[in-house]
Amino acid sequence: MLNGKRILLVIGGGIAAFKSLELIRLIRKSGGSVTPVLTRAAQEFVTPLSASALAADKVYTDLFDLTDEAEMGHIELSRSADLVVVCPATADFIAKMAGGHADDLASTLLMATDTPVMIAPAMNVRMWLHPANQRNIATLKADGIARTGPDEGDMACGEFGPGRLAEPQDILDAILARLANGPLSGKHIILTSGPTHEPIDPVRYIANRSSGAQGAALASALVRLGARVSFITGPATVPPPPGVAVTRVETADQMLNAVQAVLPADAAIFAAAVADWHVTDASTGKIKKDKTGKPPALKLAENPDILATVAKMKNRPGLVIGFAAETDDVLANATAKRKRKGCDWIVANDVSPETGIMGGDENAVTVIDDNGAETWPRAAKHDVARRLAGRIAEALK
Ligand code: C5P
Repeated sequence: MLNGKRILLVIGGGIAAFKSLELIRLIRKSGGSVTPVLTRAAQEFVTPLSASALAADKVYTDLFDLTDEAEMGHIELSRSADLVVVCPATADFIAKMAGGHADDLASTLLMATDTPVMIAPAMNVRMWLHPANQRNIATLKADGIARTGPDEGDMACGEFGPGRLAEPQDILDAILARLANGPLSGKHIILTSGPTHEPIDPVRYIANRSSGAQGAALASALVRLGARVSFITGPATVPPPPGVAVTRVETADQMLNAVQAVLPADAAIFAAAVADWHVTDASTGKIKKDKTGKPPALKLAENPDILATVAKMKNRPGLVIGFAAETDDVLANATAKRKRKGCDWIVANDVSPETGIMGGDENAVTVIDDNGAETWPRAAKHDVARRLAGRIAEALK
């Protein structure tokens, strides 16, 4: 939650500006307050009145508004917030920021502020990819300015690619990650997610059907409660949520190294579907078909068990959680797995194809701990994640 946190929201002039109104609503719903600042171009897309009504606050537009200067000067306005968010950040506004211009209220505020700044860019794909814009983005990054998005997808101009404003919910998550003072504030949580790929040769690999959806949803729920999340992901189809520190890996070996590199932690959650085996003699060149028609004999060896390794470490996190994706005897297998691996909780689910859980949007889990098994009703993966994050917050109190 953003209880009492103040966001100075600079709304830039682009077609995506209307989404900033939804962002105002979401920030307020999270307990934060919003002071909107509209550039002149922004006022062509949203009216100061709608921004003001949603923010329930005065809207600022003009650097030379003497009344505003008497009530609250632009310097004070720029410093009274906990975070300055520029949404949408247009190519022109980004260029102004990178160049240090101060020729209107919005750009002057950004020059004068000493509070952290986050931008949510939105522009045409060609503009986003233009070397000048990429240079400006690199400059802002070097200046310590945080960024959420842009997303890739269909754009208002009819083109497709990177440049679309991040979803307001994702921008809120990124804001929460910086400012939230929830029950997990100050806690570091490691989360593995997605499948691993184990190479057979440079072009082929062993994989599984994990999408990384449950891991990403859980990371997002933990961030919302204020946790600092180290998100270690294999090649998943669902992207990491905003606000987490991402390490991308391919193999189980790399995943174990990445986990060890971010220890210590208050909790570690192993939601990744790690391949059980790797090919011991993975070929450095592409394996050719044998003229006799004989398939290659792949030699497999067991992968390190990341969960079991961490659960048995001396400096293990206080709470270690494993997942058990089973197709038969879910409860019995998961209970045995909890013992064998030495973790505190196992989150078990039935991934038989008929459940549609693996790669789907819903999950039905049973949480097993020292006190026994607790079965939760089938729900959206995001809802399961929220409930699990709440349970983790209780346990880490
Ligand atoms: O694959 P298995 O059913 O054993 O996975 C159970 C739990 O162990 C999961 O939480 C998974 O992330 C973890 N695991 C692991 N390293 C492996 C295999 C599984 O961390 N090599």
